[in-house]
Amino acid sequence: MTTAIIGTGGIGSVIARHLASGGETLRLSSADPESARTLAAQIGPAAVVAASSRDALQGADAVVLALRFSVLKGVIDEITAPLAGRLVVVPSNPVTTDAHGNVIRVLPEGQSSGQVVAGWLPAGARLAMAFGSMRADLFVAASNRSPEPAVLFYVTDDDRAGEEVERLIRTAGFEPVKAGGIEQSGRLEVGGDLHDLVVGPAAARSLIGKA
Ligand SMILES: NC(=O)c1ccc[n+]([C@@H]2O[C@H](COP(=O)([O-])OP(=O)(O)OC[C@H]3O[C@@H](n4cnc5c(N)ncnc54)[C@H](OP(=O)(O)O)[C@@H]3O)[C@@H](O)[C@H]2O)c1
Repeated sequence: MTTAIIGTGGIGSVIARHLASGGETLRLSSADPESARTLAAQIGPAAVVAASSRDALQGADAVVLALRFSVLKGVIDEITAPLAGRLVVVPSNPVTTDAHGNVIRVLPEGQSSGQVVAGWLPAGARLAMAFGSMRADLFVAASNRSPEPAVLFYVTDDDRAGEEVERLIRTAGFEPVKAGGIEQSGRLEVGGDLHDLVVGPAAARSLIGKA
């Protein structure tokens, strides 16, 4: 199947490599087309470079918006119509870095990226918050773990989105575990109790109930 990845930076490039390794076909776009071109050349024939964010969605079954929180709304507004009817996967955490390199929240305490993004999407877009619950280096180290796979948590309010994102999570080399609806998104995000955790399925399911 085909997934569009908009944003080929720190986490977008890692997601792209792992999905391609699992057999997914990719359509990549980034602000600077050179960034998407370089990644596509490294991945090989499974990845093509799209001319724009909107073009990336042509023929894609799903889209991953691997973007910083500050640019997310602008990109969603550019591609609103084609998002309807698709799985929209968002790994974005509501953080930025200040002038001293410290990580700071861009949303008030208690407000999650997932809740805000849900309000930006058009009717019919099927949102799953996923692929943002661990740092890129942890993601790489934990993927395709054997014998017990590592878990990637996700949240969604939509059963079909759940099935679709579970397929993507497995394709990327993880076992999917749903942590709840979008209202639970904060648990996966920076500062949440499920963030940057590398655990197997049994431990993950036990943690879910401990919120
Ligand atoms: N990096 C991690 O370890 C990690 C882990 C979990 C979650 N996250 C979350 O994932 C999100 C992305 O983080 P990141 O580290 O991948 O950021 P990043 O390295 O800055 O990458 C962001 C990407 O977005 C692209 N972009 C910016 N504006 C765009 C636009 N208008 N249209 C299309 N593409 C655009 C950039 O394009 P160019 O390359 O052309 O500039 C870049 O490829 C953040 O919210 C972060 O909290 C990151």
